[in-house]
Amino acid sequence: MELLNRPRRLRGNGILRKMVRETRMDKSSLAYPMFVMEGNNQKEEIPSMPGQYRYSVDRMEEKLTELLAAGVTSVMLFGIPGNKDEMGSGAYAQDGIVQRAFRKAKETFPDLYLIGDVCMCEYTSHGHCGILCGQEVDNDKTLEFLAKTALSQAQAGADMVAPSDMMDGRVAAIRRMLDQNGYCSTPIMSYAVKFASSFYGPFRDAAGSAPAFGDRKSYQMDYHNRREALKEAMLDAAEGADILMVKPAMAYGDLIREVKDRTNLPLASYSVSGEYSMVKAAAQAGFVDEAGIVCEMAASAYRAGTDIYITYFAQELAKFMDEGRIG
Ligand code: PBG
Repeated sequence: MELLNRPRRLRGNGILRKMVRETRMDKSSLAYPMFVMEGNNQKEEIPSMPGQYRYSVDRMEEKLTELLAAGVTSVMLFGIPGNKDEMGSGAYAQDGIVQRAFRKAKETFPDLYLIGDVCMCEYTSHGHCGILCGQEVDNDKTLEFLAKTALSQAQAGADMVAPSDMMDGRVAAIRRMLDQNGYCSTPIMSYAVKFASSFYGPFRDAAGSAPAFGDRKSYQMDYHNRREALKEAMLDAAEGADILMVKPAMAYGDLIREVKDRTNLPLASYSVSGEYSMVKAAAQAGFVDEAGIVCEMAASAYRAGTDIYITYFAQELAKFMDEGRIG
């Protein structure tokens, strides 16, 4: 055979394969989502997410220490309040669960970068991501509450805020509120392209945040849509988002790539709870190799254009990167 092009030439040696590797990953780009709950001395496993826990504020330290030791320097906090009400008042309470968690984490771990998920669904009795008017989420009324929530998190020590509610105009409203209160340097990472997804099921178990009626389709996106994803990304960029996010990650590589190519902002992707739980369940059944799958999913997200990868497997991935398994 006279074959001029033999792609296999570059695959014959492990050192060479690494030299020509096209996607490089680094631990500094990982962020770990973590749930904090009321109470003392609590570390409660989330049944649908084996290996993931809800921590009371006084027990967060053990996980944060582990993460830092593994080289994961960024954490995204989700609060699970003791009481939920119609107005989601726990979301913006000065002494709310997540605000206390931020204060404690900032004080104990000044080197950790703290991101606040800004949404109302964990805090509302009806489980929707905003303030209701009848059976509908009132977009414009919700904006002031989201802005207050973001400000309360920044005041408590959040280094960055990440609105995940999908209301129109929330990035602008949050930016204005932060700026008016002296937080003009606090970045906003917008969940710009967030789909109404079945992949969030385990998270809603974890946070008790499933909507009491209806669904989130009037605010989260329809997963058939691609141009709309770009529209959302552009709008959030124009409103002042510093970082955009595509969520979920695994089934949305096409959109990670497109948003990356069409905007000039850093891009995050969020490998959500359902992705985690599927891998765990399949691995526990002995159907797949967990480490192999986790590495492959991560590489696919980065290959698609991810700069910041938010994943429940952050600590494991940091280890795999150290071991040279991926990266
Ligand atoms: C809050 C929020 C959700 C997730 C992140 N922020 C739940 C939802 O929108 O229903 C999901 C994260 C995950 O599934 O891991 N709105």
